[in-house]
Amino acid sequence: MSFPPAFSFDITAQCSRTRARCGCFHTPHGDVTTPRFMPVGTLATVKGVTASQLRDTGAQMVLSNTYHLHLQPGEQIVADAGGLHRFMGWDGPMLTDSGGFQVFSLGDINTIDDHGVVFRSPRDGARIELTPERSMAIQMALGADVAMAFDQCPPYPASEADVAAACRRTHSWLERCITSHTKVDQALFGIVQGGCFPHLRQESAQVVASMGLPGIAVGGVSVGEPTEEMHRIVRQLGPLLPDAVPHYLMGIGTLREMAIAVANGFDLFDCVIPTRLGRHGAALVGGERWNLKNSRFRHDHTPMDASCPCPACRQHSRAYLHHLIKSEELLGKILLSLHNITQLVRFSTAMGQAIRDGCFAEDFAPWEADSPA
Ligand code: GUN
Ligand code: ZN
Repeated sequence: MSFPPAFSFDITAQCSRTRARCGCFHTPHGDVTTPRFMPVGTLATVKGVTASQLRDTGAQMVLSNTYHLHLQPGEQIVADAGGLHRFMGWDGPMLTDSGGFQVFSLGDINTIDDHGVVFRSPRDGARIELTPERSMAIQMALGADVAMAFDQCPPYPASEADVAAACRRTHSWLERCITSHTKVDQALFGIVQGGCFPHLRQESAQVVASMGLPGIAVGGVSVGEPTEEMHRIVRQLGPLLPDAVPHYLMGIGTLREMAIAVANGFDLFDCVIPTRLGRHGAALVGGERWNLKNSRFRHDHTPMDASCPCPACRQHSRAYLHHLIKSEELLGKILLSLHNITQLVRFSTAMGQAIRDGCFAEDFAPWEADSPA
């Protein structure tokens, strides 16, 4: 295992009854204490939220996307601004996803072969090619602290032969990513694929782990498979990932999924759910989803969640939030986005506190206790 100069990962506490652990991931833009939820800032903005508001949610690391930023404004403009941190005014740790996932889920794909992916720009129909080398070049220009390997995430369901082929390609692309990634103040994380096939997952974990990268991610989850399948994959992979590096479960962000993942040794998570729900007038409260448009809130002058430190809960009432959402005011969507991000970050850090206090298994994942193998 080798970390680039300004990076390291310390494990600071461990649960005795599950694989859950607390860690500190050091990056050139500061530390990320784990477990920690990462908000998604697809286009160099967490939708509706300023950098200082984002800081106040407790978020430490923010994710952005190669695919979207390449299309608009283009990595050269971001590089000219001094990199993604300067461009968006966020001076904390950042991670960029490689485009591997977005091009498969959003792209109008022409061809996929071992060389890479050719697709049409959704803006002007222009032909764009993404390859491992191109994804690395774009991510190096964007300059986040962490770059993700360019991978192929098969859809769900997919045949065993198709998933096996996507794995082989992902592994050979990973080698090309490693060769072409030359930025010393940026860490490259590998991505495990393998769909719902245990032997492919195992092989992928072994191949990616053998590369000795400073972080390892599990992709291809939450792509439409049943929850129990996702749970099974997470349980299978936990023990197969190298202990000494951060474990990132990609695209996961419900409370239950995060608890299962932390119990199985995962450290980092991201999801668009909090901001997407916020824009649709929904809030995560006490493990439920509330639709603030509901008329039951019309005369309710109490805070949404009295224990929540976010501006929506500290300064406003349910009646006011209901009114903003009913009136389609921007502020309603912003306040609910801030609340939802705060909730997910707080849930992830509460798990960390419980790990340190020795009560993680009882409080967050009783069904996982005493089965750390
Ligand atoms: N985001 C969510 N899932 C994935 C995945 O499988 N690969 C990549 N690159 N990003 C993701
Ligand atoms: Zn709140």
